[in-house]
Amino acid sequence: MTTGLVITIDGPAGTGKSSVSHRLAQRLGMEFLDTGAMYRAAALLALEAELSPDGGPVLAAAVQRHPPVFDWTCSPPRLTMDGRDVSERIREADVTSIVSRVAACPEVRRQMVVWQRSAAASHPWLVTEGRDQGSVVFPDAALRIYLDAAPQVRARRRAEQLRAGGRHADEAEILRGILERDRIDSHRSEGPLRIPDGAERVDTSELDLEGVVERLERLARARLGDRLPRTEAASRP
Ligand code: DC
Repeated sequence: MTTGLVITIDGPAGTGKSSVSHRLAQRLGMEFLDTGAMYRAAALLALEAELSPDGGPVLAAAVQRHPPVFDWTCSPPRLTMDGRDVSERIREADVTSIVSRVAACPEVRRQMVVWQRSAAASHPWLVTEGRDQGSVVFPDAALRIYLDAAPQVRARRRAEQLRAGGRHADEAEILRGILERDRIDSHRSEGPLRIPDGAERVDTSELDLEGVVERLERLARARLGDRLPRTEAASRP
């Protein structure tokens, strides 16, 4: 009998990974882990404690004292730090602008990997998204997916997202930020962004959110079939 299963979804910024992963998890009756949020919490901590975003050992020690904690009773799980809900705060521009540097610190990454594996131990039916989930954290995951899209498409999506939230968005500036984050995320020594071995690469440039979710759900059901949890939707004739 299957007692759990991990699906990893990796890829660069702006491919819609978080929304796609959360919806896919809901459709499959699984839980959802947003590992980018954990790095964002570490970046927020660096800002608030006035620590260098590149200061690996010092920052990692601070992160251990103020760990990111998910509230799994919410869907998607909300993220807290020292009991404070930081789910929205970690999406702000000041956090976004330094998070790649924080995520490049090997000491911080090692701690996050430990917490991510322990999240999977307590939440064994897990769709987890990030940059290194299929390559480093869960190389034996039942299904590994790599979402991709042209940088210009990713920048346009981010700009639309910001505008929908009533915020100002300069698409050219967003594109520069995306390319810079891609560069740092792909070239760091530990857990660089890459297509995991055996991963299914899905180009989302021509698809909307619903189209991507549909495609991944079909892929998961075809590949994993009765290893997936039984959901109402799956058992409908
Ligand atoms: O997906 P996101 O934009 O929330 O990710 C924030 C940053 O964290 C981004 O620079 C990539 C990095 N990250 C990472 O290095 N490894 C992960 N597993 C998840 C995110």
